[in-house]
Amino acid sequence: MDVLLLGASGRIGQRIANELLDRGHVVTGISRSGQVDGIDDPDFEAVAGDATNHIDIADLAEGHDAVASALGPSEGENPEVLVEMAEAVVEGMREAGVDRLVWTGGAGGLHVAPDTRLIETEEFPEEWEPVARAAIEAYEVFEAVDDLDWTYVAPAALIEPGERTGEYRTAKGELVADEDGESYISMEDFAVAFVDELESREAMHTYLGTGY
Ligand SMILES: NC(=O)c1ccc[n+]([C@@H]2O[C@H](COP(=O)([O-])OP(=O)(O)OC[C@H]3O[C@@H](n4cnc5c(N)ncnc54)[C@H](OP(=O)(O)O)[C@@H]3O)[C@@H](O)[C@H]2O)c1
Repeated sequence: MDVLLLGASGRIGQRIANELLDRGHVVTGISRSGQVDGIDDPDFEAVAGDATNHIDIADLAEGHDAVASALGPSEGENPEVLVEMAEAVVEGMREAGVDRLVWTGGAGGLHVAPDTRLIETEEFPEEWEPVARAAIEAYEVFEAVDDLDWTYVAPAALIEPGERTGEYRTAKGELVADEDGESYISMEDFAVAFVDELESREAMHTYLGTGY
C-alpha cells in the first residue's frame, strides 16, 4: 500500500513508519517541518504539511491508498487542535478521494465498565484530562462520518517505548487490561496492532482498544 502517515516524526508515528516499511509498504511521512529523523529507507519520503489544513491534506493524500495518523498536539498547544486536525483530515480525504483512515486516538473514551469510561474513573490523572477530552471529541468527528472507512485505534492506558513482541489484544470500545488490571502496551506493539488493522480492515467504524 501507498500510505500517507501524518505525524511521522512523533514518538508513535516513527514506530508506525518502521512497522509499515518492514512490511513492504511505501510511506509518505508528514510533519510540519518536513523533517523525520532516524528513518533511512528508499520507500520512505518525508514531506512538510499542516494537518489542520484540509487543502494540505487533500494535496498530500492524492494517489495514496490510505491515510494513517499519529498526530498529537505539540507541548503547550491547546489539545483541542486534535479536533481541528480530525475535521481537516476528513475533509481533505474526501477532496482527494481517499477513503481509508486509521487514526491513533486516546484511551480515555474506552469503557472500563458498561457505564464508565476510563476518563470518568477516579484514578484518571487530572493532567491528562484536557488531551483525553480532545481525543474523545476527535473520535466524535469520525463517529459522524459514514462515507470514509475509518478506524480509531487507541493505545492502552499507558504506552511507552519498549519491545516489539508482536503480541497484543484488542477490544471494541473497551480498555484492554491484563489479569492484574494493568493496561499497558509498548509503542512498538501498538504499531503492530495499528498496521494489522490498516491491512485487515477488521474494525471498521470502531473505537478499538489495544493492550496486553
Ligand atoms: N494512553 C493514551 O491514550 C495515549 C498515550 C500517548 C499518546 N496518545 C496519543 O497518541 C498520539 C501520538 O502521540 P505521540 O506521543 O507519538 O505524539 P508526539 O510525539 O507529540 O507526535 C505528534 C506528531 O504530530 C505532528 N504534528 C503536530 N501538529 C501537526 C500539524 N499541525 N501538522 C502536521 N503534523 C503535526 C508532530 O510533528 P511536528 O511537530 O514535527 O510537526 C509529530 O510528528 C497523540 O494524539 C496522543 O494523544 C495516547
